[in-house]
Amino acid sequence: MTTFVVAIDGGAGSGKSTTAKGVAQRLHFFYLDTGAMYRAFTLKYLQYRDSEHISATIDIETVNILLTKTAIDLRQENFENHVYLNGNDVTVDIRTSRVSSFVSQVSAIPEVRRWMVQQQREIAVGKNVVCEGRDIGTIVFPDAQVKIFMTADLRVRAQRRQKELAEQHGESRFEDVLKNLQFRDNYDSTRTHSPLKKARDAIVLDTTHLTIEEEIAAVENIVRERLHHQ
Ligand code: DC
Repeated sequence: MTTFVVAIDGGAGSGKSTTAKGVAQRLHFFYLDTGAMYRAFTLKYLQYRDSEHISATIDIETVNILLTKTAIDLRQENFENHVYLNGNDVTVDIRTSRVSSFVSQVSAIPEVRRWMVQQQREIAVGKNVVCEGRDIGTIVFPDAQVKIFMTADLRVRAQRRQKELAEQHGESRFEDVLKNLQFRDNYDSTRTHSPLKKARDAIVLDTTHLTIEEEIAAVENIVRERLHHQ
């Protein structure tokens, strides 16, 4: 069965998630949020650290064992996307500032990336997907039919993320949100394994001056055009 993959990459807060979700909904494609998967494993990592009273980074053998005990499930329930970690709904827990401040380091571990990429490809088997992340067009689905690389001005991205956080977890300081985005972009783009970067054949979409509706429409039009010429 030929399946259609829309790969959306970009920095933190660039509008990827909202756009990917909207496009998936309109086209009836599966929404594959790879950031949520890295966040779910980071939560597991932190829970283990807390339970063992470890304050440093966890050694690689233990990370490998943790991976064998990890099951991440992305489910679409009542038109909402839920993330399950070993059967528990962690949709809200993976968005805390604690997870956000550890996720880049955890997702830079090569063993974690290998595990995730394999899972992501398995999830997509037999489906039409809109997949978003940092390495989708370059590593996970290099043959994706559509590749989009989203960018936006840093301060605009921080404003959007702050608003999102306020809705979910209460107020957060603008400067803290901005620093976290800056830190993660830098960490994610400079890591050795599958860094955040634009695929050669990706279309760049700068969302600084676009509304959510315009972002979704822009990507949807590109996808429909390609589908039409399949
Ligand atoms: O999309 P997000 O902000 O929820 O992603 C959280 C972190 O996960 C991000 O800072 C880097 C990591 N990530 C990654 O390394 N590769 C991906 N494909 C997706 C996310």
